[in-house]
Amino acid sequence: MSAVIISGKELATEKRTFIKEQVTKLRQFDAVQPTLAVVLVGDDPASHSYVKAKKKACEEAGINCLLEHYPSTLTQEELLSRIDYFNRNEEIHGILVQLPLPKHIHENSIIEAISPEKDVDGFHPINIGKMMINQDSFIPCTPYGILEMIRSLNVSITGKHVIVVGRSNIVGKPVGQLFLKEDATITYCHSKTKNLSDITRQADILIVAVGRANLISSSYVKEGAIVIDVGVNRLESGKLCGDVQFDSVKEKASYITPVPGGVGPMTITMLLQNTLQSAQKKASQNKTNIL
Ligand code: GUN
Repeated sequence: MSAVIISGKELATEKRTFIKEQVTKLRQFDAVQPTLAVVLVGDDPASHSYVKAKKKACEEAGINCLLEHYPSTLTQEELLSRIDYFNRNEEIHGILVQLPLPKHIHENSIIEAISPEKDVDGFHPINIGKMMINQDSFIPCTPYGILEMIRSLNVSITGKHVIVVGRSNIVGKPVGQLFLKEDATITYCHSKTKNLSDITRQADILIVAVGRANLISSSYVKEGAIVIDVGVNRLESGKLCGDVQFDSVKEKASYITPVPGGVGPMTITMLLQNTLQSAQKKASQNKTNIL
């Protein structure tokens, strides 16, 4: 039997319509204009296209996007000074510094300089820590998007074996924590894992985020598993492909995400959601201050 293809694109469109309505309400009734500041440093082509897509999505949802693009010679002090400005500006609700950064800039110092209240990427150690102990926080966008995709299937997550391949700070580690919060049993695999396919074959939900084109063949997948492919790899032909061999794995899985059109559009949608959440919080603080 062939898997149902989870269209991140369709779910993203649905969610973005709802976000746009909420943004309109904030603008009309609370005089708050949801605003996201985005900083891009250097000329990485993939980062360029991600940032362009984020800006377009903001504008379509009625969220202001202040995009600042700097050459790769920007110093760490200069970047910290822009972040300080955004932190103090009451009209900015979200701050996103696109990663990776040039080597002379210390990524952790930048992430930690962003106010946790405006960290719509959910990368600040305070937000990561809060997520781990089930406190309100910004949830990193890709893990959040994956959870929303699974929720849309109306299958129970409780007690399911979720296996995550990849342990990045942006996707692998937080997505495992997020599903742990949903009462799943979690296994992490990574580049040093032995007998990878023996482990991944036990997954009810297999999440692959390693950035290696076509790593996962159907022999890595249990019959009926849900397969989420976070990889975005550009082949020499220029074609995009995921970490999962889509054509063969879809014959074995019950649900599978495509690349492109799967996780990617959901990541951007959850960025909009986080920015909206931050602006809504600001609106309710404004009301409290008036009373
Ligand atoms: N680089 C790759 N993915 C992301 C992301 O979600 N946020 C930021 N800031 N940089 C990234």
